Amino acid sequence: MIKIAFYDTKTYDREAVLAAPGAGDIEWTFHDFRLTTETAATAVGMDAVCVFVNDRLDRPCLEKLAEAGVKRVALRCAGFNQVDLQAAKNLGISVTRVPAYSPHAVAEHTVALLMTLNRKIHRAYNRVREHNFSLAGLVGFDLHGKTVGIIGTGKIGRCAAEIFRGFGCHVLAHDPFPVTDWASQQGIVYAPLDDLFSQADIISLHLPLTPESHHLIDATTIARMKTGAYLINTSRGKLVDTPAVIEALKSGHLGGVALDVYEEEEGIFFEDHSGHALRDDTLALLLSLPNVLITSHQAFLTQEALGEIARVTVANLGLVNQGSALPDTLLT
Ligand code: NAI
Repeated sequence: MIKIAFYDTKTYDREAVLAAPGAGDIEWTFHDFRLTTETAATAVGMDAVCVFVNDRLDRPCLEKLAEAGVKRVALRCAGFNQVDLQAAKNLGISVTRVPAYSPHAVAEHTVALLMTLNRKIHRAYNRVREHNFSLAGLVGFDLHGKTVGIIGTGKIGRCAAEIFRGFGCHVLAHDPFPVTDWASQQGIVYAPLDDLFSQADIISLHLPLTPESHHLIDATTIARMKTGAYLINTSRGKLVDTPAVIEALKSGHLGGVALDVYEEEEGIFFEDHSGHALRDDTLALLLSLPNVLITSHQAFLTQEALGEIARVTVANLGLVNQGSALPDTLLT
């Protein structure tokens, strides 16, 4: 029976993974803390570790895992920017991921964020609960006829683009690997990034975080956007230079910003900090702005996605254990 240490465990993760086919053949140790160099000693005697987006598997952490005898890392997410893949390869540690679980979950949350922010549903909800039925300050805009810029037309970006087409939006897309047949079928136009920035009323990010895409949205790119443009980021926090976004919100250049991810979310998101002062002043400032809506990296959080993450993670662990893995899940 293989032994797996599962980090950053939440109740919903545990329930989903234990219900997955094959989970009974694995000996699980669940930890609620994250895996870092400081906590890696807890993996001694384990065959594998199972981690999520805010565990930090840099070289020192991977070296500690190798010393502890760990041979496999199973990511229960799609993005892998939190793992030093070269170091894992050098240390003989295999790394698997779940490349797709429910692109619909993330795309639908993206649209939910935009609709909530634009139509001020979050403000209306609070007002009506206090018997304040005034409409002052709740004016939104029609999505129909607006231009949406989708950056990254992989699995999630394509789902989001199709939903926006359903609203009657024009969709401009940008991706180094355009999917031209799909775009022409959907009436979607690929455009250079500069054209997308200058023409879009709403910009939605669906690309991975890489050294090239780090701070794709900064003061320079924001300056190219239309005055009043809305920005939505459900991909990775570090795609966006947060102080530049705050300046643009204060000046009115950006009309609204909806985020499911934040560049310094590690240690904050997924946890309850309601009982003490938030130590991140930038996040506190963002939260104070009326045209900002933030969720805590929950775009993936549907029953379907959790079930699929658990199924593929357990399958990955089993297949790698037998010396094979699904080609699109194996990173090293
Ligand atoms: P995918 O791999 O299917 O698609 C990513 C697309 O981005 C690819 O078509 C790629 O060519 C494109 N791309 C890469 N660099 C680019 C650049 N510089 N400019 C424009 N396009 C670029 O990935 P998928 O499944 O669509 O996921 C997208 C991102 O969503 C992930 O990288 C992850 O960061 C994020 N995500 C967020 C979740 C959440 O709960 N908030 C859950 C799952 C994923």
